[in-house]
Amino acid sequence: MQQAYHVPVLLKEVIDGLKIIPSGIYVDCTFGGGGHSRKILENLNDSGKLIVFDQDEDARKNLPNDERVIFVPHNFRHLQRFLRFHKIQKVNGILADLGVSSHQFNEPGRGFSTRFEAALDMRMNHNETKTAADILKNYSEEQLHKIFEKYGEVTNSKTLAKTIIGIRRSQPINTINEFKNAIYPVVKGNPEKYFAQVFQALRIEVNDELNVLKEMLEQAEVVLDEGGRIAVITFHSLEDRIVKNFFRKGNFEDDQEPDLFGNKKKNELKIITKKPVVPTQEEIKTNPRSRSSKLRIAEKIRVGKENN
Ligand SMILES: C[S@@+](CC[C@H](N)C(=O)[O-])C[C@H]1O[C@@H](n2cnc3c(N)ncnc32)[C@H](O)[C@@H]1O
Repeated sequence: MQQAYHVPVLLKEVIDGLKIIPSGIYVDCTFGGGGHSRKILENLNDSGKLIVFDQDEDARKNLPNDERVIFVPHNFRHLQRFLRFHKIQKVNGILADLGVSSHQFNEPGRGFSTRFEAALDMRMNHNETKTAADILKNYSEEQLHKIFEKYGEVTNSKTLAKTIIGIRRSQPINTINEFKNAIYPVVKGNPEKYFAQVFQALRIEVNDELNVLKEMLEQAEVVLDEGGRIAVITFHSLEDRIVKNFFRKGNFEDDQEPDLFGNKKKNELKIITKKPVVPTQEEIKTNPRSRSSKLRIAEKIRVGKENN
């Protein structure tokens, strides 16, 4: 049996949370297999529109034959630019279901999974040039230490970075097995978990995942129409913290510095989900990939109404 491209997570929760206006304009920043998009389309009438982004050309084959859909094969960090290009000023809702799709993860040649032997690639977008192997080859010890510490929360990130620098002097680290074998002596705890953290760190760095999320959120706040909603599904705490802080305070810092005139940026979003929405036991059972997902929703406040 052919494997599904991707099973959408928290589908009902996303659709209910977006409170879709049938004639509205919506954006799916992460089209993937199109599971969420198809449900959004079911809730739109003939005047509705759906703009879908995916930086991976593989996603194109999942596009429905539907005149209401516009496909943008680019990074969602350019959200505002492409909406402008399509002459769209404001939208009624935005969805981002972050990370990689099951298709990308299960495709050995993409290099995302520790299960296969393949080149250490990990690019979601083939037009980008930097791969995970390039990072291991070219980054300094300090840079490697920082990404494993920050993006993977790897406990012995300093030792890991030092080990990589030592090994790469004498042997290439181009494939998943070469990498796993090279660092095996410094693995701490459960090797599967350790490799997962290390791979997560590399993937985040290759795709600049935290910065693109921040850029998208800032633009989403601007392009959302009053009363419009944004729904974001995250899969690890680094992303979730960014979304939580932005929805709460309109910025990414725990404490924002005022500008030269003593003003702090006003938050134009109101939190709809006080606590993140998580999958039911039932969903986790049928789709284990949903296990770590968290959905947060916010609404653009109406002019003149204070956020509380
Ligand atoms: C988790 S999947 C989304 C699955 C989708 N919701 C569905 O129901 O099938 C994430 C998708 O978003 C894409 N993606 C991730 N980050 C992106 C970004 N910064 N810009 C554009 N596409 C991105 C990935 O290529 C992948 O296809």
